[in-house]
Amino acid sequence: MKSHRYHIITFGCQMNKSDSERIESVLRGMGMEVVDRPEEADVIVMNTCSVRKSAEDRVYGLSYNFSKLKKQKPDLVVCITGCMPGRDKDGKLKKKLKEVDFYFPIKDVGKLPGWLHVKAASGPRATEEREAGGSVTQPHPLSPSPYKGEGGRAETVGSEYLSLTPVYKNKFQAFVTIQTGCNHFCTYCVVPFARGTEGNRSLKEILDEVHNLAAQGCKEATLLGQIVNHYIAPDPEYFSESNPYKKNDFAKLLWEINQIPGIRRIHWTGPHPIYMDDEMIDALTLPSQINFLHLPVQSGNTEILQKMNRRHDREFFLDLIKKIKNKRPGIALGTDIIVGFCGEKEAQFEDTISMYKICDFDIAYPAKYSTRPGTIAAKKFVDDVPWQEKKRRWQAVQDLMEEITWRKNQAYIGKKVSVLVENWQDGYCTGNSSELKLVEFLGKGDLVGTIQEIEIDKAEEWILRGRPVT
Ligand code: SAH
Ligand code: SF4
Ligand code: F3S
Repeated sequence: MKSHRYHIITFGCQMNKSDSERIESVLRGMGMEVVDRPEEADVIVMNTCSVRKSAEDRVYGLSYNFSKLKKQKPDLVVCITGCMPGRDKDGKLKKKLKEVDFYFPIKDVGKLPGWLHVKAASGPRATEEREAGGSVTQPHPLSPSPYKGEGGRAETVGSEYLSLTPVYKNKFQAFVTIQTGCNHFCTYCVVPFARGTEGNRSLKEILDEVHNLAAQGCKEATLLGQIVNHYIAPDPEYFSESNPYKKNDFAKLLWEINQIPGIRRIHWTGPHPIYMDDEMIDALTLPSQINFLHLPVQSGNTEILQKMNRRHDREFFLDLIKKIKNKRPGIALGTDIIVGFCGEKEAQFEDTISMYKICDFDIAYPAKYSTRPGTIAAKKFVDDVPWQEKKRRWQAVQDLMEEITWRKNQAYIGKKVSVLVENWQDGYCTGNSSELKLVEFLGKGDLVGTIQEIEIDKAEEWILRGRPVT
């Protein structure tokens, strides 16, 4: 085919970032090269997010721009994947998108070489052929199979696409997706619709991937899943006999990854509070576990939590945080919060504020509730908190967070933190500490990719500054 330059635009969460690394591997497998600007590309892929309306609106805007670009470049191919095609069961979203050639859920990314090949061979009719169910799933004859293992499977189902080897953005820090989809159906959330039901990746494949990463010098692995601590190994026979955990497969997996030499930091996101059992809490003390846990609470009020179908109440969460802090004192904590959920009264919002204070979170991602079509909340509840009020509550969480984060960060002054150096610019190295606090220090460029001990002498809300300890 003629097309040989691609540009990928990624929206949404880390899982989408990891998926984009797989899209990249499929396109590179066809001999294509990346370009920085969409205007220079022959193939543009948008990997979309549906969690908020604003993320989808940006995709509509871009697709309009690319439809204009197509007038100058008739051979330009525009692909849309990710969560929008996933949730678009009746094709309503697709109708609003201009001149998209290929529109597919991420699990079908392995079919892309075949489609692009047919498009190049037969021109604009290819889309029609694909939609009519034509024989377009054949892989490009010149493209090596991007899949590991034997055979060139062009078709994937469910979580099978995860066996594509990603083109990791970063050699020393890698995302490893271990699970797709979600069965929880929190009433506000579109993810189960966009991503389908929970699918767990083979344990052997996960361990192989992390071993390969370690062999290539990777130091930090971030395990990804929507309810990552509900991971159930389809092939538990690959757990070691000496694994100390007996019940929780995710705790077992963390232990196994802890045994892999070279992987110095293990991070995972996002867990669900109800699966943080005693084994999981114990696994927080494994040597490579970073000193940070992201644990979404969403609300501090029991009635709202019930309405959200979170399956736990306020007391359960507070108790859990207590257990976690007892097990690993000093662990930094992050959370997700939704303000202004359907029917949320001022007093119920105040419960979220008091919860925040008691838990003493280091970081939060507050979101103003917005209705997502198709969700249970969209069908059953009224989105009745005014936008201005949502903004006020959001700001209140934001202000509280900054106050608490600033105060907690002062405690690092005079202490040492261990930093994985990610960037070097103008003489300064930056990277995250084990608590996932951004740290800056004066240092050389060749420190990128190494772990350094830094003594902190200045602390702000979002940055700690210090100097290397020799
Ligand atoms: N699986 C993760 C969250 C995935 S979605 C979990 O269970 O916590 C990421 C975050 O987006 C959620 O934690 C929630 O805070 C926010 N979110 C999801 N749907 C939303 C909606 N309709 N309006 C506002 N925020 C939402
Ligand atoms: Fe959405 Fe709830 Fe599943 Fe998280 S657990 S992805 S919030 S449905
Ligand atoms: Fe968005 Fe899909 Fe992630 S909806 S947050 S990209 S799972």
